[in-house]
Amino acid sequence: MCGIVGYVGRRRLVPVVLEGLKRLEYRGYDSAGIVYLQDGKLTKYRSEGKLQNLESIMEEAIGAPAHIGLGHTRWATHGAPTTENAHPHSDCSGDIVVVHNGIIENYHSLRNELIEKGHHFASETDTEVLAHLIEEYLDGDLRAAVTKALARVEGSYALGVLWTGMPETLIAARNHSPLVLGVHEEEGGFLASDIPPLLPYTDQIIFLDDQELVVLKSDSHIIYSLVTGEVVEKKAQTISWNAGMAEKGGYKHFMLKEIYEQPQAIIDTVSGRINPENGSVTLSEMNLSDEDLAGIERIFLVACGTSWHAALVAKYWIERWAGIPVEVDIASEFRYRTLLIDEKVLTIAISQSGETADTLAGIRLAKELGSKIVIICNVVGSTMPREAHGTVYTHAGPEIGVASTKAFTSQLAALFLFTLYLAEKKGTMEAGKRIELGKELINVARVIEEMLPILQAEIKELIENYYDSRDFLFVGRGLNFPIALEGALKLKEISYIHAEGYASGELKHGPIALIDKDMPILGLTPKDAVYQKSISNVEEIKARQGLLILIGTEGDAHLKSITDDVIYLPEIHEELNPILYTIPAQLLAYEIASRRGCDVDQPRNLAKSVTVE
Ligand code: M6R
Repeated sequence: MCGIVGYVGRRRLVPVVLEGLKRLEYRGYDSAGIVYLQDGKLTKYRSEGKLQNLESIMEEAIGAPAHIGLGHTRWATHGAPTTENAHPHSDCSGDIVVVHNGIIENYHSLRNELIEKGHHFASETDTEVLAHLIEEYLDGDLRAAVTKALARVEGSYALGVLWTGMPETLIAARNHSPLVLGVHEEEGGFLASDIPPLLPYTDQIIFLDDQELVVLKSDSHIIYSLVTGEVVEKKAQTISWNAGMAEKGGYKHFMLKEIYEQPQAIIDTVSGRINPENGSVTLSEMNLSDEDLAGIERIFLVACGTSWHAALVAKYWIERWAGIPVEVDIASEFRYRTLLIDEKVLTIAISQSGETADTLAGIRLAKELGSKIVIICNVVGSTMPREAHGTVYTHAGPEIGVASTKAFTSQLAALFLFTLYLAEKKGTMEAGKRIELGKELINVARVIEEMLPILQAEIKELIENYYDSRDFLFVGRGLNFPIALEGALKLKEISYIHAEGYASGELKHGPIALIDKDMPILGLTPKDAVYQKSISNVEEIKARQGLLILIGTEGDAHLKSITDDVIYLPEIHEELNPILYTIPAQLLAYEIASRRGCDVDQPRNLAKSVTVE
């Protein structure tokens, strides 16, 4: 959580950092701050709340001829979201400033120790101890002082440090929190918590690893190991994303833009990976040999939030088509149960960001237990792929809206490909079937592309009867049960309506007691293998006067006899219905949240990348 931006170079500092923070605001928006160094003096601006509050107090600073500085957007962990707790934080002298993402776990004892030594604290944050610790160790050499300070620290950090005594240098370091460098001969040196702030200036990216520190100047960067103190040679990678991908491009919200980007994201994820002639699937970065694959007896899927819903769908696919037993875990639970994992288990983590702390901790544990690790991930070079044996990248491009949309459907596409791949290797699916299902995967993208604008208009009208509801239920069966969970998550996180997803058949075991004439229930009822059962379940809801919205297959007139509010979707291969049926659920959440005037892209209390456990 929290976003860090740093810059040293020929450009004016404030616009670079402000723009960078805008591209990172999805990581947290409890407060924001910027510091720059000009004529030997540090100038700091901080404000609670969203970035626009900071922007409004910085109008005069925009043109300041400063060329080095740091910025931060905060998701509060220690200390309330006030201006006093906003980063950057300073030492006693005011000559050292620090921005930080992560949690300093032993900050209490460090703070007490520093107070005893005479340091004065101005905030309640864990971060401030870093500024004072560096001050304590500073003896003319900032790198040495930061290194000594970090040796005392337990926990996670990505931090940027600026000191008046070295007016042309930023120091940054990371441990368990993401940090990337952007380098460009003319533009200078950049650092950020994620790639989007760097995109307008450079496509040359260096991913810092844990326990690394960088000394960054406008024309150089030297990376050191915090463990050995030695220089670490790292090459920049060329990133294929461009600046436009991280902009709204005429849409009102990133979420809506990303909903509309789904057809392309699915096509990009599938393209070139399945041979239309023989149905053979190539997942080149997965790095599993045929021998590795032959030895797999079970698969564990581990993820959080929306990515966990993708895992739930994949369990149906993998078990059905590749015949391998699959267990699905919420990452934060996975770590704390007895894990019967060994080298015969393949652990697949699913993560848009590749940085989610719970998922990362889960894969580290599974790796220790001897499992091979594969990541389904959207961010090239993020921490998880770097620690795993292999990766299947989704090609959704940067996802900025806090509510995950295109990352989810791309994860489903990647997981479906992975299923075909396994089925091919295990000999459980014939080539003809793989060719057919591979084509269907592309077909679903085309179907979504065609239906999107009409569907959005239809849903916008429909939600007039539902947008001020207090609660909502989503129900689905089989492959669409996880989509009911996903629909409920989307609605609650962006509209703040209490929403739950249930397996349709589970309603009668308790939740049906909730149903009355004020309870809207969205039922996913495509013409699939469990259609008749799903219909019986929605009839039970109707009998109790629930407000039913049904989403089903074009031409299914029966649905109209159950309720007036029916959304029809084209008939596709039923295996791929989870991808298709996600779209109306996303749009419903989007339209309701917009109608209620909610901040769709930045819902309260949330951050996109959850890098604390
Ligand atoms: O980056 P990850 O996929 O690991 O993130 C997992 C969850 O934090 C994420 O899916 C979250 O649930 C989204 N806000 C859902 O829209």
